[in-house]
Amino acid sequence: MKTIVISNRKGGSAKTTTAVNIASGLAKHGSVLLLDFDTQGHASIGVGCEPNEDLGVHSIFLGKTLSETFMPTVHENLTLSPALAYFDVYEYSDLRGVLKNRFKKEKIADFFDYCVIDTPPTFDGLLKNSLEVADSVVIPFVPHHLGVVAVGQMLRALLQSARATEREIADVSILPVMYNPHINEHKESLNKVKTSFGEAKLLSPIGVDIKLAQQFESGRPIILEARRSKGYKDYNKCVEELLQRL
Ligand SMILES: Nc1ncnc2c1ncn2[C@@H]1O[C@H](COP(=O)(O)OP(=O)(O)O)[C@@H](O)[C@H]1O
Ligand SMILES: [Mg+2]
Repeated sequence: MKTIVISNRKGGSAKTTTAVNIASGLAKHGSVLLLDFDTQGHASIGVGCEPNEDLGVHSIFLGKTLSETFMPTVHENLTLSPALAYFDVYEYSDLRGVLKNRFKKEKIADFFDYCVIDTPPTFDGLLKNSLEVADSVVIPFVPHHLGVVAVGQMLRALLQSARATEREIADVSILPVMYNPHINEHKESLNKVKTSFGEAKLLSPIGVDIKLAQQFESGRPIILEARRSKGYKDYNKCVEELLQRL
């Protein structure tokens, strides 16, 4: 099983949109587990479910198993562990290693080809638990100055997490989102990312497509639906590129 963590501490950088489309896109290639680690539960909504108030992925920090939180989604190959709404990470001082331990004890890797994790926009115990199991980290970013700054900050956070857990740093991909090639600021930001962090890390950009915002209303990711749309084509390419790196 390959675990892909979608992360950026900056809010509104299309983490959840990317997580649901990558998870659903990978579901065409194998069995996928999607973990909705952001208690807002938007990834759960994105695959036709709801965040749960009684049982969800965060219940593993309260003594539950991961598999008892599983539920079916919009795609037969895609299983969801939904967000546990209102779970308060700050009530718990040390959550380290819990997800990693669950993966091992429940032999999660025997049941899925891919695991995709949508994360909250904070460097907290939830993000750290995700990074402890990551083979690959995708950092979506909006190509503005602060977007580029946030990518740098995220890369340093990854390094810090790898050091703290004495783990090799995961493969990192940087994904420009809501990209418009006619806007100079966007092109310049992309160039800055290339020169600062290396062109090899960069995935092809995702353009603006209002269907990517509307998909949450129907609970059906674009990648399973609107084949002719820009959002479909861009995320499909993103999944293909990611598969080559895994
Ligand atoms: N490529 C895109 N084109 C148009 N809207 C987008 C695109 N990507 C994301 N959005 C919208 O931008 C907002 C933020 O995206 P979201 O995935 O929720 O970000 P995050 O999880 O990082 O906070 C959402 O309303 C989403 O629907
Ligand atoms: Mg989100």
